[in-house]
Amino acid sequence: MCGIVGYIGNSPVVETLLESLQALEYRGYDSAGVAVLNGEGVVIRKRPGKLKVLAEILRENPIDGKIGIGHTRWATHGEPTEINAHPHTDCTGSLAVVHNGIIENYAALKEMLSAKHHVFRSETDTEVIVHLIEELAKSYPIAEAFRLALKELHGSYAICLLSKQSPQRLFGARNGSPLIVGIGDQESFFASDVPAVLSHTRRIVYLNDKEVVELSSQGPHLFNLEGKKERLKISTVKWDVAAARKGGFPHFMLKEIHEQPSAIEQTLSGRLDATRGRVVFDRRLKSFLEGLSSRQRLVIIACGTAYHAALVGEYMLEEFARIPVDVDLASEFRYRGAMLDSNTTVLAITQSGETADTLAGIRMAKSQGAKVLSICNVVGSSIARESDAVFYTHAGPEIAVASTKAYTSQVTALALLTLYLASLRKRIDAQKRRSLVEGLAKLPQLVDQVLATEASIKAVSARYASCRNFYFLGRRYNYPTALEGALKLKEICPLIHAEGYAAGEMKHGPISLIRKGWPVVFIATHSPVYEKIISNIEEVRARQGDCLVVASESDTTIKRHADSLMTIPRTHEFFSPILAAIPLQLFAYYVADANGCDIDQPPNLAKSVTVE
Ligand code: AGP
Repeated sequence: MCGIVGYIGNSPVVETLLESLQALEYRGYDSAGVAVLNGEGVVIRKRPGKLKVLAEILRENPIDGKIGIGHTRWATHGEPTEINAHPHTDCTGSLAVVHNGIIENYAALKEMLSAKHHVFRSETDTEVIVHLIEELAKSYPIAEAFRLALKELHGSYAICLLSKQSPQRLFGARNGSPLIVGIGDQESFFASDVPAVLSHTRRIVYLNDKEVVELSSQGPHLFNLEGKKERLKISTVKWDVAAARKGGFPHFMLKEIHEQPSAIEQTLSGRLDATRGRVVFDRRLKSFLEGLSSRQRLVIIACGTAYHAALVGEYMLEEFARIPVDVDLASEFRYRGAMLDSNTTVLAITQSGETADTLAGIRMAKSQGAKVLSICNVVGSSIARESDAVFYTHAGPEIAVASTKAYTSQVTALALLTLYLASLRKRIDAQKRRSLVEGLAKLPQLVDQVLATEASIKAVSARYASCRNFYFLGRRYNYPTALEGALKLKEICPLIHAEGYAAGEMKHGPISLIRKGWPVVFIATHSPVYEKIISNIEEVRARQGDCLVVASESDTTIKRHADSLMTIPRTHEFFSPILAAIPLQLFAYYVADANGCDIDQPPNLAKSVTVE
């Protein structure tokens, strides 16, 4: 999704904007641009393609200045061309706007503004914003024109405005798309996300929907859409710059795969009582879960990888806490007329907390009287703020488009919730609970052991790097692991088609494709269906398919059934989706690397899908 930044201060603005935009590259983009205000007026440079193309243009034709805005665009309305790239300007070129989101009534606004002789150059929805401000600025001071323009917009936006009439101020606002303010020493920032400002400040204001900010080098002033001044809430983020950078790894994805022991440790931190062998939560979560326990239904909604975590959660919660669970893709849930009431709890799972469909899903659930809990990584994100209770995973910033540590920490969070609810509902005896709590405490160490097998996973990946079609198969708790393994591979290696299935479904269709050398990745760790999955492996081998198996390292018989092996420590099935995900993440990573893929920013994908 688009990344937006703004800067006002004493540093050279172009370098600062480019550095901030670079930190937002993970959001996915296809063009980039900046607007700077100086003695010449508002000066724009923008280009399709990666930031380095823009940086080169700026090197050839530098711009001086201390105030400006910047943008990385992920096309929604109009192709990724120079004209459609942001910033967009008004007819006179004295206003410039960058925008993330979609203006749903742009066609009507464009017609109205065209009738008033505004000339549009791009095919974007964004351009109406700047012409609308221009129109209103004929009658009002610029700050007011900005605010009144916002009131005319339908849809989602995070916007920054640069105005020649106001050389000491930048303006910003959000509604449905993320925007934060960074407060530095004699300098201030707008950005879509915290990593963009981390090298300058950790003092952050997370804006709420329908909030408007006037930013000077001394800091922000906050208003609502009616122009009433509001109180600023400044948070201090704990992330450091290193956490938001690659830390010596060639890609963020590999760094984040290796961060899983500490990410899981963070998710568990303060939530395990080893002495009493139980899970503990803070007062707010505890009281929410007491309510959840007595409500009749739990519906989990999520998208992509978070949806796979939700499926694991369904197995966990139904088996141990004996709560009826439905899992829905948020994009389907919001449109299928789901039956909800005050007896329903909706659990939203999301790394970013900004996914448009998940956000819309919780809003719909709340409007029907359901209570909303979220499992979320990004503190202060929209979904976290709009939920009745939040379980933060604290996995740290996840920059790579392909989610890894967020996934395993989401499953860890679901395991904690399951054990807590199982205990609350008296569905688990103390001994069983203690043994699973001990298992949870050992998880970071077990994940480390899986990571220690990286070299052999890399060697296995080399064997399969030239294959172009894969199946991933698993059963029970590791059916979602199969879906996740396939998603990881096709997501970061666009040359490959990979499909995940429940292994028992093979005979109902997918097996028709199996022929000599067709690679099938099986998750065949110890479980009550181990024998069944061995049969599924043999069915593939009988058709000369090539079986790559994720198995328990203590399994001495599996070698007879597998063409290639990746192993994880033997563990209770309850934890196996966390451990089994890791070899599949590394497998996807090394296959993609061997194919020269753009691993951290795969084509057509964005980290956070903030439009539906
Ligand atoms: C994961 O690798 C994907 N990039 C994607 O499926 C992601 O999990 C999905 O868009 C949901 O994002 P969220 O967790 O931020 O809501």
